Amino acid sequence: MCVMRLAVAGALGMVVGAITAATAQVAPPVPSEAEVAARVDALLGRMSLEEKIGQLTQIGPGAAGPGEPQPEELIREGEAGSVLWTIDSAQIQKLQEIAVKNSRLKIPLLFGFDVIHGYKNVFPVPIGMASSWDPAMVERSQAIAAHEASVSGINWTFGPMVDIARDPRWGRIVEGAGEDPFLGAAMARAQVLGFQGPRLGTPNRVLGSVKHFAGYGAAEGGRDYDACYIPEVLFRNVYLRPFAAAIDAGVGTVMSAYMDLNDVPASGNRWLLEDVLRRDLGFRGFVISDAWAVASLTAHGYARDPADAAFHGLTAGVNMDMGSQTYLKNVAALVGSGKLPVAVVDQMVREVLAIKIRMGLFENPYGDPAAKDKVLNDPAHRAATRVAAQRSMVLLRNENGALPLKKTLGSIALIGPLADSTEEIKGSWTVEGGAAISVLEGLRNKLPNARIEFVRGGDMQRLFPLPWDAMEGKKATPLMPEAEMKQELEKAVDAAKRADTAVLVLGERTSMSGEAASRASLTLPGNQQQLLEAVVATGKPVVLVLLNGRPLDIAWAAGHVPAILEAWYPGTEGGNAIADVLFGDVNPGARLPVSWPRTTGQVPTYYNHNLTQAHEDDPQFTSRYGDFVTAPLYPFGYGLSYTTFGFSNLTLDRKSIGASDSLPVSVDVENQGRVAGDEVVQLYIHQRAGSASRPVRELKGFERVTLAPGEKKTVHFSLGPNELKFWSPQARAWVVEPEEFDVWVGGDSKAPLHAEFKVNQ
Ligand code: NOJ
Repeated sequence: MCVMRLAVAGALGMVVGAITAATAQVAPPVPSEAEVAARVDALLGRMSLEEKIGQLTQIGPGAAGPGEPQPEELIREGEAGSVLWTIDSAQIQKLQEIAVKNSRLKIPLLFGFDVIHGYKNVFPVPIGMASSWDPAMVERSQAIAAHEASVSGINWTFGPMVDIARDPRWGRIVEGAGEDPFLGAAMARAQVLGFQGPRLGTPNRVLGSVKHFAGYGAAEGGRDYDACYIPEVLFRNVYLRPFAAAIDAGVGTVMSAYMDLNDVPASGNRWLLEDVLRRDLGFRGFVISDAWAVASLTAHGYARDPADAAFHGLTAGVNMDMGSQTYLKNVAALVGSGKLPVAVVDQMVREVLAIKIRMGLFENPYGDPAAKDKVLNDPAHRAATRVAAQRSMVLLRNENGALPLKKTLGSIALIGPLADSTEEIKGSWTVEGGAAISVLEGLRNKLPNARIEFVRGGDMQRLFPLPWDAMEGKKATPLMPEAEMKQELEKAVDAAKRADTAVLVLGERTSMSGEAASRASLTLPGNQQQLLEAVVATGKPVVLVLLNGRPLDIAWAAGHVPAILEAWYPGTEGGNAIADVLFGDVNPGARLPVSWPRTTGQVPTYYNHNLTQAHEDDPQFTSRYGDFVTAPLYPFGYGLSYTTFGFSNLTLDRKSIGASDSLPVSVDVENQGRVAGDEVVQLYIHQRAGSASRPVRELKGFERVTLAPGEKKTVHFSLGPNELKFWSPQARAWVVEPEEFDVWVGGDSKAPLHAEFKVNQ
């Protein structure tokens, strides 16, 4: 295991070295705010109304409709400030040249794309990255993604996605950091720093766009795009906190969401974008709508027609219209008729230009075609994806040391519809990605002399095609015919009988996770449950590896399969990383960023819920089901290791503090096993009384530590106003209240080690 730790450290070292060594851009001097304002004013003074509207328009990669101007023409006329979804580097270069050489004012374009978890070298999907509880690793990974994107000409990523998700039916839970605002805030910050660097204009980075503002994860019924109803107290204490962290880290843009928030569409919601975003959170970049969200304001039944939609979008504070050209086609007439003061347009343009100036786009408008090949094929980048994948896998079950597997195994039956996939293992939203390492290849690489028999075992499918596929007339991929499915299952059982061990790779196709990929049921889709049960019935040792983007109903497996590894979609080196973990070259140390329900009917289930009506002398009177256990299958923060850890000596510096003080807290954590491993030390608090009921527990600190066998470390935390404050619905303000608090520290949200303190008047 020590060898393993050195290998990890080595790979990370290489990565950091590579980023600095291959730096091609030269950072322009950081302009002062006064200089930025002066440059903006000078430009604005020279702009026609049409050119101003152009800066508020992000055009799609093609013409908007038949007979409408092509992107080149719009750019030449200064009627586009940004281009969406163009990833061909030569085309980007060509369009940028038109903007900076042939348009009247030579304002460079922003090229926006979803670089979500890697560009060519693909990292685990965000929920996997969040499972690492390792913000430093996440920051490094996104810096690599940014570097690859920026040399390719993309200068703006639509990330990070920081929506809190408490309902795993919602497909986009895969794109975020799970259910918790504190972990979510740490991941938000890390990603912004990774994408943008410590400040806008950092060479080889891109502009970030934190999304989707705000509350999108609360979609009713977990149905993507559905309306959200979120009380203000929950909105501020939970949903907004990762956004606040991203803004604090300097994110340059915010993407407004699609859905209605308490009946007002997020992309036409002035309270949300002005009062909350700009006034309360202090955001000073610009807002881009989600794709076609401004045009959609009519579909919501909010705007009367496209002109009204443009009016609502702009006056609410959406600076740039993504894709729909609603501003381009309507704003001039709105200004002409006197309905929309030009001052509103000017302010929106100011904020866009200021970002372009602050990020040094006028000085460095292009990608770096000469460096592209080298950067995208940098072996250190690939190595980093393997490290990230290793650090993102959660060991959910390991009875009687079923894992790690022995390298002396003579034969393995590798079973499952995803087990040989070099595409699905990467997850969705990958760009220019080459083939990834499948689990099949990963096992073959690890055990070149073993007999590895692969059987698909069955199939699964989406019932309805993805909307963008349906638009192109594509049908859902047909499911394997029933007779073939049956045969596959029988082949799988035979293969398992012949092998020393069966490794089942089950889960979801990538099309079942992400945008427009909500599910009504969390069960294993297709015939996978049947397949699993049939293989387990052979009596052979079985390991279950999950490739998926959300918690699934694996209650049966949790009672019958001795070893379960959640690998999420681990990316380019996924198969190798899975083999590293299965064979013990890497000791898994990731932890769940979501509570894992036992069954779909339990959702939403999240650890940081409130206490409720209860008779002190009769515990039956409490929030529970009458027909099912209430507790989730695995709690938030949970994950196993090949070693065990002990916690002791929870020490609070004082018994009471003032409201503006910080309380130092420390705890000893010890590796009590025989192999090195990582523990995520987690600190939770509870405020016992006050102006509002507070959650039973709330995460307020964590640190992932690596310990050699027998090693003990003291981990330090600090509880100050940032950790103790909450937005009180009665005070309608952030408060730290003079009350008693509980503290728990341990390896998951059920941690028993307890202490208490008081905040004085
Ligand atoms: C729609 C998605 O909701 C958003 O997350 C994405 O960034 C845009 N499309 C652009 O691709």
